Amino acid sequence: MPIARIATGIEGLDRMTGGGFVERSANLVEGAPGTGKTTLGLQFLVRGIEERGEAGLYITFEEFPAQLYADAQRMGWDLERYEAEGKLRILFTTPTDLLAGMEDMDGSIEQVIEELSIRRVVVDSLSHFEFLTDDPFQLRDIEFRLVSAFKREGCTSVFLRENGNILGDTNSQSRSPFVVDSFIILRYVELDSAVSKAMLVLKMRGSSHATDIRRYRIAQGGIVVEEKFLGQEGILGGAPRKSRADAFVEAFGKKR
Ligand SMILES: Nc1ncnc2c1ncn2[C@@H]1O[C@H](COP(=O)(O)OP(=O)(O)OP(=O)(O)O)[C@@H](O)[C@H]1O
Ligand SMILES: [Mg+2]
Repeated sequence: MPIARIATGIEGLDRMTGGGFVERSANLVEGAPGTGKTTLGLQFLVRGIEERGEAGLYITFEEFPAQLYADAQRMGWDLERYEAEGKLRILFTTPTDLLAGMEDMDGSIEQVIEELSIRRVVVDSLSHFEFLTDDPFQLRDIEFRLVSAFKREGCTSVFLRENGNILGDTNSQSRSPFVVDSFIILRYVELDSAVSKAMLVLKMRGSSHATDIRRYRIAQGGIVVEEKFLGQEGILGGAPRKSRADAFVEAFGKKR
């Protein structure tokens, strides 16, 4: 039986993943500040609403609701309208309150999910749970509980996570990539004295995916995934160099 997919609706990403996220899966999107994590999360929900009629839940620990609405408005997304129409719920909460609301089976989160028939959930961001404990095993247990709760409710979830490294390797001690079904990295890349953004699908449990690193940009309407970084090596390190073949051509002219 083919694996059921939830198209993200994000141009290019669905192609890279062979049709989108696996239904009822938990997906981690990690990136440095400003790489477009919030944009990707909102886009996943907005496209679900617009193109599939699937309701979404956005859980955020940021303190300024007005900022989120304004940022979305700049993208062309009227979140308040979706909320009024019962297609979207934005929950401004704290990690502690969220966990408490998930403890009992009849918790407030489950109520929201059932009330609106939520199919897509975004948590912005997983990083906030790291403040709750210094114990990596306890953190992994918390993350596992989150991931499981949304799966149990039949939702496909996207967990955003901050990565403090602006350029360069992920260098993360976190175990959360092990808890989720897919892992996407957003990354700044310095190329010809300018900064580009790169996207990579590092893992997708149970299915094949593109392993190349794609350039993407943020525009009105959200993230647009573009072509591969041709002729470049070392993209993941943040400071790519020309591949040997291209450097050869540059130095010695066209290969004969
Ligand atoms: N309409 C737009 N057109 C082009 N770029 C935009 C537009 N609106 C926002 N951006 C860019 O999107 C980026 C912010 O994206 P977003 O808030 O999704 O990032 P983030 O990874 O969630 O950041 P943070 O780590 O601060 O939460 C900014 O760099 C901004 O320049
Ligand atoms: Mg953000």
